Amino acid sequence: MIQVDNIAKSFGGIKAVDACSFEVAEGSITGLIGPNGAGKSTLFNIVTGFLKPDSGRILLDGDNVAGVPPEQLFHRGLVRTFQTPHEFSRMTVRENLMLVPAGQRGENLLQSWLRWARVKDQERQLLDQVDDVLAFLNLDHIADTLAGNISGGQKKLLELGRTMMTDARVVLLDEPGAGVNRTLLATLADAITRLNRERGYTFCVIEHDMDLVAQLCAPVIVMANGSVIAQGDFDTIRRNPQVIDAYLGGVPA
Ligand SMILES: Nc1ncnc2c1ncn2[C@@H]1O[C@H](COP(=O)(O)OP(=O)(O)OP(=O)(O)O)[C@@H](O)[C@H]1O
Ligand SMILES: [Mg+2]
Repeated sequence: MIQVDNIAKSFGGIKAVDACSFEVAEGSITGLIGPNGAGKSTLFNIVTGFLKPDSGRILLDGDNVAGVPPEQLFHRGLVRTFQTPHEFSRMTVRENLMLVPAGQRGENLLQSWLRWARVKDQERQLLDQVDDVLAFLNLDHIADTLAGNISGGQKKLLELGRTMMTDARVVLLDEPGAGVNRTLLATLADAITRLNRERGYTFCVIEHDMDLVAQLCAPVIVMANGSVIAQGDFDTIRRNPQVIDAYLGGVPA
């Protein structure tokens, strides 16, 4: 579904990503791990159109989309979440979810007047979809709480919920488990698994929590110093001496 083909990106003299190639297969939950500074987030920024690579290709369903802006990739079903959640803190959880779908008819005033019934219909559908997402993620009890007042873990779930309001086919998650308590982590893992199995979402997940990686991800891609040093199932890569070395040795300055 996504092929990262020989991507390179430097910042000044630092090669953040260097000759990096791997694939995210349709239907997979592909893990992307590696020590701090390995280039994982930079690579995500390139795949999702937030950064242009210096060289190399990103293939989405076979088309080179390197340098295509995020909103166009969004319309092709490629969606991401951020390491730091981007919620609207003065709006409720429900309102945050209602904001997401683009191009609703209600946005145009004239159309609203002319097609009032149709707008009402869409509004109902939207509310139903929001209820569905709230229930799916166990967020229904905080639906009317201001998003600024919910916990860090609940914000991560809300981020995932926002992807469910789109026509996402492939979702890139940057450290979904960071700062999330054990109970919410189980909800998060369960939601990701169900979205994958029941709704056909493909995932690529950057994560430092190895329990979560072991539980969710196959295959696991390991990056160090900007490129892929190993890939395979979690049990294989965790025994790989190069992987152990990359984690223990740290990253050269
Ligand atoms: N905008 C930028 N300007 C300059 N250097 C950057 C920039 N973004 C990233 N880098 C550098 O590129 C390298 C890779 O960083 P990146 O954030 O991609 O790593 P990461 O694998 O996501 O690390 P972490 O696990 O800590 O999030 C690091 O050396 C980082 O300092
Ligand atoms: Mg990062």
